[in-house]
Amino acid sequence: MDRIRIVGGNRLNGTIPISGAKNAALPLMIAALLTEETLILDNVPRLADVAQLQRILGNHGVDIMSAGKRSGDHEYQGQTLHISAANIIDTTAPYELVSRMRASFWVIAPLLARMREARVSLPGGCAIGTRPVDLLIMALEKLGARIAIDGGYVIASAPGGLTGAEVEFPKVTVSGTHVALMAATLAKGTTIITNAACEPEIADVADCLNKMGARISGAGTPRILIEGVGGLGGARHTVLPDRIETGTYAMAVAMTGGEVLLRGARPELLQAALDVLTEAGAVITPNNEGIRVARNGAGINPVTVSTAPFPGFPTDLQAQFMALMTRAKGASHITETIFENRFMHVQELARFGARIHLDGETATIDGIETLRGAPVMATDLRASVSLVIAGLAAEGETIVNRVYHLDRGFEHLEKKLSSCGAFIERISER
Ligand code: EPZ
Repeated sequence: MDRIRIVGGNRLNGTIPISGAKNAALPLMIAALLTEETLILDNVPRLADVAQLQRILGNHGVDIMSAGKRSGDHEYQGQTLHISAANIIDTTAPYELVSRMRASFWVIAPLLARMREARVSLPGGCAIGTRPVDLLIMALEKLGARIAIDGGYVIASAPGGLTGAEVEFPKVTVSGTHVALMAATLAKGTTIITNAACEPEIADVADCLNKMGARISGAGTPRILIEGVGGLGGARHTVLPDRIETGTYAMAVAMTGGEVLLRGARPELLQAALDVLTEAGAVITPNNEGIRVARNGAGINPVTVSTAPFPGFPTDLQAQFMALMTRAKGASHITETIFENRFMHVQELARFGARIHLDGETATIDGIETLRGAPVMATDLRASVSLVIAGLAAEGETIVNRVYHLDRGFEHLEKKLSSCGAFIERISER
């Protein structure tokens, strides 16, 4: 299994190109199931989760062609996928495939909307909490689906097709909103989703669906209106930049010091995180190329934050921010409000010497001057990258084990960081 070796202490200086967003690319690929025509997606990141979803879609009969290099492409260019679901030959998403990636459960919506049936394995728990799918099922039932659970599978059918309805979510859910949105595009009549998630990835998917012929308004706000249409066609769409990758590298620079241009990043996608970083002492300057992040001289200020749905501070940056706070000049508090068990990085950060006390949903971090490198491992993607950030600033050597978590969500992580002066390398073992 591969490991990552870091020798900490170098400042980061240079340019990091930001990749397409994983959490938009995945639902966009799934949305291709809604049409028999080809959906072309540009700027798709080369990630393990994307490759896994390609396998899952392939099992339904979907053809996916990855376009070759084109003249003028830069080193970190995302891939262009041509996705054709002309013939869906299987409406079952089996346990072996769904259990590896939770978002693959979302295929239930387009399969049900277009094929009027779907049999999809329940995804099961995962390292950041129980993560149920009750609200996704509630939304599909509201749209007229009949749902049964048998042998660990959700069996959904809508023999006469789905029907528009009012879907009100009792809590904000990204997965629930994606599922309701995709299903409603082909439902008869009008659907109104209230208390919808406002994450930019939802708006990006809606934008693509509208290019495919859907009639959606209000995506990106808590109230989305969808007028169902008889069918969707092909389209071409570019995946928006990854705000979590952006925030992660911004925190790395705030941690090590230096100055980096995050090329292609869009500040409006993560304003809450940028505001928090500014409070912590980073200098954030958006320009027409992206976002410039610097911290020169001054130390790191302690800042207290709570995670919240967009436009709040994202849960997917909580672990990275905690790494930053381990070196703040004083005590900070971080409250996790989205997932009940997303603190798996705490015990690993402690291996660097960090002083963190957990009390329910809140971590108190007493900043220290110097972290010391250590062998560490993490059980989810964002927790893993928080250990990389800590390692970049720690004295001495850090070995991050279980690198496959990082490969699920960070494209060219070592290359991007080492091009800015970090000492980071992958140790491959067979
Ligand atoms: C998405 O997960 C992201 N995944 C997550 O990113 C992200 O952390 C999360 O949204 C919150 O922003 C993708 O986009 C692929 P939710 P999702 O439905 O959609 C509860 C990463 O590292 N809930 O908004 O699964 C749930 O347990 C990943 O890239 C129910 O109770 O999140 C949680 O507490 C990790 N019932 C809360 O809602 C349901 O039916 C928010 O979950 C569904 C969710």
